[in-house]
Amino acid sequence: MSKQGSEQNKSNSLESSWFSFDSLKQKSLFRRKSVDFISDESPHGSEYSAHGLKKSLTVVDLTSLGIAAILGAGVFSTIGTAAASGGPAVSMLFIFTAIACGFSALCYAQFASTIPVAGSAYTYAYASMGELIAWIIGWDLIMEYAIGNIAVAISWSDYFTALLWQYHIPFPKYFSMDFVTSLRGYEMVTKGLADKGMSISEIANAGFSQHTIEAYTAYVKAPHILGIPIVMDLPAFLITIFVTIITYIGIRESKKAANLMVLLKVAVVLLVIGVGSYFIQPANWVPFAPEGVGGVLKGVSGVFFAYIGFDAISTTAEECKNPKKDLPLSMMYSLVICTVLYVLISLVLTGIVPYKNLSVGDPLAYVFGPEGVNLPWVSSLVAGSALIALFSVLLVFQLGQPRIWMVMGRDGLLPKAFARIHPKFKTPSFATIITGLITSLPCIFMNLTEVTDLTSIGTLFAFVIVCTGVLFMDSSKARFKVPYINSQWIFPACVAVLFYISIEHKNLRTIFSDDNFINGDQLIFCFYFLLMIILAIMAFIRKLSLIPLLGILFCGYLMTELGTTNWIRFGLWMLIGLIIYFLYGRKHSELNLKRNFS
Ligand code: ALA
Repeated sequence: MSKQGSEQNKSNSLESSWFSFDSLKQKSLFRRKSVDFISDESPHGSEYSAHGLKKSLTVVDLTSLGIAAILGAGVFSTIGTAAASGGPAVSMLFIFTAIACGFSALCYAQFASTIPVAGSAYTYAYASMGELIAWIIGWDLIMEYAIGNIAVAISWSDYFTALLWQYHIPFPKYFSMDFVTSLRGYEMVTKGLADKGMSISEIANAGFSQHTIEAYTAYVKAPHILGIPIVMDLPAFLITIFVTIITYIGIRESKKAANLMVLLKVAVVLLVIGVGSYFIQPANWVPFAPEGVGGVLKGVSGVFFAYIGFDAISTTAEECKNPKKDLPLSMMYSLVICTVLYVLISLVLTGIVPYKNLSVGDPLAYVFGPEGVNLPWVSSLVAGSALIALFSVLLVFQLGQPRIWMVMGRDGLLPKAFARIHPKFKTPSFATIITGLITSLPCIFMNLTEVTDLTSIGTLFAFVIVCTGVLFMDSSKARFKVPYINSQWIFPACVAVLFYISIEHKNLRTIFSDDNFINGDQLIFCFYFLLMIILAIMAFIRKLSLIPLLGILFCGYLMTELGTTNWIRFGLWMLIGLIIYFLYGRKHSELNLKRNFS
């Protein structure tokens, strides 16, 4: 490396700075696996091997892989609730979120081109930031993969039951809805009627949405056992069990099937855009942001969920023909393609029906149904294709989660059973079953919004850590490096602008008035802002690399939009993870036993 290059590496990385990680790494919490150690330990010849895999993937394959993982419940379901709270302007949120993901994607690409093995962000963190952070990421990725799959299963169920109803096959609502939704519907209706002094026979005229009435009806009509209504999302439960069985016996999509699936998904989305554009009533777009910035930002979790999955590309680094160029390019291509589709589809959906009506689990089929433009054949075609498309997403994530656990089991951070390989099927058998349980059981009672929120906050946090990792990592071994832009002035300026914009939106002025207490959301924002100020000072002094910093700034900001309840749930989840690490992982870690850290 030239003198100038090495100087630049020193100046834009925290690796060798005044906040030296070297001084901490001997302490076991920050012990790190060396990059060479990680590569060496992969069993040679296995499908996870860092060596010996055919370098066959081109930029087209990688982009297709990205789209395969990205297009799923987000575009088929959560886009509906996001549009219902923000109106047509939610299309702008898709662009903002894509930019945040773009910064993180570049950081993922740098990590992946340095440490090309299985385990995704977990492995990268182990090499750059040490064991504790790696554990946090691994624990956190359960949210992205396993909890995320609950959302995909719920979405699958919504399309499945809608299709049955279209063909006049009545599937009881109480067996196609989660318990929480039905309970909320019941409470809302009983309280609403009591407040208005109306009786149940007047329910249709009491101003409840169709969805709320259905939830109420499911609750009352469900069979009761010991006075408890048995309401459950049976199709979502059964589809996850089915996917678990086939991943257990080792069926996975061939490259050809995966490519076909991508074509199908893109074709459905294009069909909705193409046919739907004939039915747009421009009046539905006015006003463009009927609920203001606040309404648009309520959709953050649903919109971000729609982008989750591009990071899957990064796990294929060793099989790429030209990882240096193709990894970042394919992540960017898949993000750009999906963004164009998302922006167009959100405009089409909000153009066809009033945005408020879109709060349904199957918005793409709904707009062509009787409450939309009444084109039953399009509605059925979309619903049928959605079933296949969502099934393929379930498969990708249900295969991914056990493999992360497998690596964590090998590392000793989880019991060795997680690394167990089935003698006949050659799959991580125990980890696959646990994944199946974690995904299928909550399908019975959890609600789509809650699951999406948890997935989004967990994944955003993983992105923040990956971006931070790039600042810490020794980039000399990376085949792709995030382009260096000096952040010294730009980053502090970006932090200042963001703060200025947030004053109104977060209602920050009220913090300083005497009669107001700071609320949870403001507290979260202040905490975030404090961290950003610290980063801005470091950026100014150390001339850090701008792109990872912007990834942290944007993804962190999206996290602040997810509300206090989700932060508390996320905090509890992390706390449980830390307890497990300190009681188990720390002692049983292979690095602890071998003392083989870098
Ligand atoms: N982005 C993936 C989906 O929308 C998780 O299903």
